[in-house]
Amino acid sequence: MADHCFACHGPDQNKREGGKGQANGLRLDIATGAKADLGGYAAVVPGQPEHSALIARIMADDDSIMPPNNFHKALSVEQKQLLKQWISQGAVYDQHWAFIPPKYSTPPEILPKHHTSVSNWIDPYIISKLESSGLSPSPEANRHTLIRRLSFDIIGLPPSTPELSMFLTDNASTAYEKVVDRLLKSSHFGERMATYWLDLVRYADTNGYHADLTWNVWPYRDYVIKAFNDNMPFDQFTLEQLAGDLIPNATLSQQVAAEDQSSKEQLESELKHHQGISKFRMPDLKLIRQELKEWLQGIESKKIALHSLIKQITVYTNATLEVTYNAGYLTNQTRALDYTPYGS
Ligand code: HEC
Repeated sequence: MADHCFACHGPDQNKREGGKGQANGLRLDIATGAKADLGGYAAVVPGQPEHSALIARIMADDDSIMPPNNFHKALSVEQKQLLKQWISQGAVYDQHWAFIPPKYSTPPEILPKHHTSVSNWIDPYIISKLESSGLSPSPEANRHTLIRRLSFDIIGLPPSTPELSMFLTDNASTAYEKVVDRLLKSSHFGERMATYWLDLVRYADTNGYHADLTWNVWPYRDYVIKAFNDNMPFDQFTLEQLAGDLIPNATLSQQVAAEDQSSKEQLESELKHHQGISKFRMPDLKLIRQELKEWLQGIESKKIALHSLIKQITVYTNATLEVTYNAGYLTNQTRALDYTPYGS
């Protein structure tokens, strides 16, 4: 539905269509919208696909078909079937997983012969899956292999010769844990973690086409690396990238994190040129920044909890990422103009 319906029946009030009985159009991304009374009928009637307008519309063989033909994103037979089945099963709208509090679950029982392979509380889950596929855990790898794997996993680099010999000769029962701790403290840990985030925000040291010129946006890269190394909380990390420049007495690094995104027009024109961004799924960055600004200034009447703001962002998509991604994309452009440390 996100791909095929939300463009016209999603969170963006200005783009919303249909919904005769509803002032603001038909909204399908939330349960109350989908189940709302449209004047004697509803888009979704839980358990009753045959009485759900949604099903009638996706199955229609005339111009009333949804999505409309001129949207050029017809549903497949399987997708139609899936929607039908979902409504038959009660049309449950789950909250975004990020807002469902984690619950303790009891680790599964495993065969006694595998008990010796358990060294932490994650292992029983893995072993139980292996067992159900008729597999057994592999024996523990030799120490050379272990430290190489650990090192690549945590810092993205192989161990040095002295590090290797230290591990090989360490007879303490916590030898492995000591290596993990050392690697987590390494400044390369932040570099390793930052690669994922930098990919998401489309970071690059060069612009990638034409003459592949450098852009000198490394202060942002270093900011992300440092954020990971300093273990910066995720809400702070998000805040700084969306509105670091608006924080009263913003530090240089907070300004680097956000750069100047104050121009909505710029944002929109940039987005137009950037394929792959579904604009209707974009939260209103200007509005978010305005709210953040008031929140940051501690304006009492406007004080909104930061987490409810992040929630607003997240429910639209998976989307702290998407917003920060868009912000980062732009930020890279503006940063390129600002940092020319080598002189030009
Ligand atoms: C490009 C825009 C667009 C897309 C995409 C779209 N719709 Fe619609 N939808 C409309 C418009 C416009 C109307 C109102 C006109 C009409 O009833 O045909 C409407 C009406 C409806 C209605 C009837 C609402 C009522 O008040 O009776 C339903 C149900 C519906 N759409 C379901 C869907 C579903 C399900 C999808 C995705 C599979 C979808 N639509 C995708 C534009 C869209």
